[in-house]
Amino acid sequence: MEETIGVVGAGTMGNGIAQVCARAGYRVVMRDVEDEFLRRGLSSIDRSLQRDVDKQRLTGEAKREIVSRVSATTEMEGLREADFVVEAVNENFQIKAEIFRALDALTRPEAILASNTSSISITKLAAQTRRPGKVIGMHFMNPVPVMKLVEIIRGIATSDETYERTRSLTEKLDKVPLECNDSPGFVSNRVLMPMINEAIYALYESVAPRESIDGIMKLGMNHPMGPLTLADFIGLDVCLDILNVLHTELGDPKYRPCPLLKRYVDAGWLGRKTGRGFYEYER
Ligand code: CAA
Repeated sequence: MEETIGVVGAGTMGNGIAQVCARAGYRVVMRDVEDEFLRRGLSSIDRSLQRDVDKQRLTGEAKREIVSRVSATTEMEGLREADFVVEAVNENFQIKAEIFRALDALTRPEAILASNTSSISITKLAAQTRRPGKVIGMHFMNPVPVMKLVEIIRGIATSDETYERTRSLTEKLDKVPLECNDSPGFVSNRVLMPMINEAIYALYESVAPRESIDGIMKLGMNHPMGPLTLADFIGLDVCLDILNVLHTELGDPKYRPCPLLKRYVDAGWLGRKTGRGFYEYER
């Protein structure tokens, strides 16, 4: 059974995944390419756990124990002993493919290699390895410590045993696994991104100002955030990447990214992380 979880990528998703794994009692090795990225990832874990300490849901001692279960490294070698690895790097097939090849060469043959991809084909990633039966999609939602869902994606070759081990791990993380097949955008982004894109078109075509578009969806549909706020939260570059995958792979013009989204990404207005997207943020 799983004891050590490897996490590749210390960004928003990677450090969130590392945090929930450590909180569930697993040892975690978090790997990124630069010490600075690891430092930021670790401080994000610290801040997030501190919220629970402040609300007296976690003792300071328990927090220290959780943090002590996470080790950080810039070396791929650090992942050698992992029983289960979750890759959470940028949505770029070439980068992910290289990581999957390296993990395949490094880890024990029985280790499961999961990807937190939001839209890249699990079947294609699995084909980079000599263990396609042990490759699976494990799509966490942002913010990872708060959101209950993990979308579990089976590639064409994913074995039943891999699926069962992944489902069981997800439940141990106190999350709800919901299964789907390997299709562009899976279920989450196939449904979410067209809604976000449509909200951007509504802004582009001056149907309403940004506050009204968000307010209508928040108050009218009981969404926790309006779609433009949510796009800023996810990252406009990420939204554009996913829409491009849906558009290219499914070939249907209904997924065409709104020109306004492209323009914002060209401008470097990527949402919260850059201080500006559809709204302005203090950094
Ligand atoms: N770490 C830990 N806890 C966090 C947190 C974090 N990073 N962010 C928020 N929280 C906690 C807060 O402490 C608070 O806890 P309590 O209610 O228990 O006290 C709770 O979450 C709510 O937070 P806030 O009161 O600060 O703010 P909020 O009520 O506006 O909620 C939100 C924030 C949870 C992010 C909420 O706005 C929300 O659910 N938004 C939608 C998020 C969403 O749709 N995510 C999916 C994006 S799509 C994706 O991830 C996949 C993809 O492929 C693109």
